[in-house]
Amino acid sequence: MSSQDRDKWNKRYQDGWYQSRSHASEYLIKRLTENRYHHALDLGCGLGRNINFLKDICDQVTGIDISNVAIQKNIEATSDLDKIHWHCLDLCNLSEIDFKEYDLIVIVRFMNNKLIQKLPALCQPGTEFIIEQHLETDLKVAGPTSRSHRMKKNEIRELLDSCLFLDFFEGIDNDPDGKTVSLVKCHVKNIRE
Ligand SMILES: C[S@@+](CC[C@H](N)C(=O)[O-])C[C@H]1O[C@@H](n2cnc3c(N)ncnc32)[C@H](O)[C@@H]1O
Repeated sequence: MSSQDRDKWNKRYQDGWYQSRSHASEYLIKRLTENRYHHALDLGCGLGRNINFLKDICDQVTGIDISNVAIQKNIEATSDLDKIHWHCLDLCNLSEIDFKEYDLIVIVRFMNNKLIQKLPALCQPGTEFIIEQHLETDLKVAGPTSRSHRMKKNEIRELLDSCLFLDFFEGIDNDPDGKTVSLVKCHVKNIRE
């Protein structure tokens, strides 16, 4: 486990970061409200704001995060641990995850391009991916200041070039808390056999 990353995120969650951001990703809601899934996996789930939405449209939901502080908070706040599963894992090491169990994979503002690129080969054909990431821009927007924590334009299309794109957006957007953000958002289906 990358102990530096883990310590950094643990400190943020101990200091109360993201506590007020309880709304699920609006993109997730927009794309999935009409659908139902068997088992969704939220990678880099943080405090579980997206799991709270996914649990109503899925039979089972699993959230993975490197921060044991976030995962412990989530476990304590969950009443239905038969349906909602939380795991503390470093997603730089994928060997412990059986991606074939899931028909929906969600990644929201957790940057790991190597992981995104590997997903089509790891998942069953038909699995859907919803991905939302900060996008590079010259404008003054909320979110990470370092370019290395933002995707480049069209990068997601290159990483997922074997997938069918059901929806794609790159540009300036507004978060529900009123902050201006630059985002890439996509909903894709794995068609790799
Ligand atoms: C900006 S937060 C986003 C959290 C959540 N997806 C959301 O939208 O609220 C990024 C999350 O990625 C997690 N993370 C960072 N590196 C990780 C890694 N190597 N493995 C698993 N999770 C990681 C952090 O702990 C943090 O919770």
